[in-house]
Amino acid sequence: MAIIDSSISKAKAVLDKGGLIGLPTETVYGLAGNALDAKAAAHIFEVKARPSFDPLIVHSDSLERLSPYIKELTTQAKKLAEAFWPGSLTMVLPKSDKIHDLITSGLDTVAVRVPKHQQTLKLLSQLDFPVAAPSANPFGYISPTSAQHVQDGLGDKIEYILDGGDCFVGVESTIIGFPNGIPTIYRKGGIPVEEIEKVIGKVEVNAQSSSQPKAPGMLHRHYAPNAQLLLGDIEKLIEEHKDDNFVTLSLSSTFDQIPSENQFILSEYGDLNEAARNLFKTLRLIDKKNPSFILGEWMPEEGLGRAMNDRIKRAASLG
Ligand code: TXA
Ligand code: MG
Repeated sequence: MAIIDSSISKAKAVLDKGGLIGLPTETVYGLAGNALDAKAAAHIFEVKARPSFDPLIVHSDSLERLSPYIKELTTQAKKLAEAFWPGSLTMVLPKSDKIHDLITSGLDTVAVRVPKHQQTLKLLSQLDFPVAAPSANPFGYISPTSAQHVQDGLGDKIEYILDGGDCFVGVESTIIGFPNGIPTIYRKGGIPVEEIEKVIGKVEVNAQSSSQPKAPGMLHRHYAPNAQLLLGDIEKLIEEHKDDNFVTLSLSSTFDQIPSENQFILSEYGDLNEAARNLFKTLRLIDKKNPSFILGEWMPEEGLGRAMNDRIKRAASLG
């Protein structure tokens, strides 16, 4: 099992010698290694059992310290960095020669982000290199939002997890790229599309893009709990599944006919930020109960509800 501790210097020592750590960010925990060290990068793919065609995000503590790895920073990208970094936005930009092909799966672009997490920013500021960090879950399973989640999924494969508490946002970063100069969302995430449009105007949303590579978020069964997730009107689903072993997963509704321990609510008052923060944790709690079915509902298509619906859709294998 990995050591879980809040010591930044211990985290730094593991990264400095080429090892991997569980790293807290405001979105989800990452599996982090030296982004300039091809061996560490290869180790990340191995530990996660992640296909090598799926590129990694490079993290540092400022735009300035990421600039050696970016060939070209457009005006729009600069505006977005100023508006949202540190924060839950990842930008896909032309890469410089300093980034190994293994990180980008051979693409000529690199994904970069400055996470908004005090301990991690402090750690990143003390490192001589940026870190590559995918979400710290075995490939295809629910992303981790606490140090214990990382321990549960990857604890036997890494030596250290920096404990930064529960993730405040709870869904992965929004990913934006600029193919042919057109701002395009590749993954809905922690910064709502509406917020991005306030800064640079209308953007394309192409989370289903068939362009290479296929992001894991684009694979059909992803973020998948063990139970089968069914989506719709929960009252109706309850009627249809009366005789089955099920739990409910709602934004805020409760159901009188069901024992309360079989009802999972994401936010008592229907706050979408709170609901996003609770989503992955709740799916994990549900898995522990081992029901056959999860009877769930779609979130409102606004704010973080859009990113949640994307994850819910994939958890239900509806791609
Ligand atoms: O919130 C997050 O972004 C978390 C935390 C740890 O920062 N990280 C994360 O990483 O979600 P990961 O590896 O699970 O998802 C990264 C996504 C993948 O879907 C990958 O395909 C996409 O970023 N990506 C990375 N580089 C890319 C590139 N050059 N072009 C297009 N997509 C890219
Ligand atoms: Mg992931």
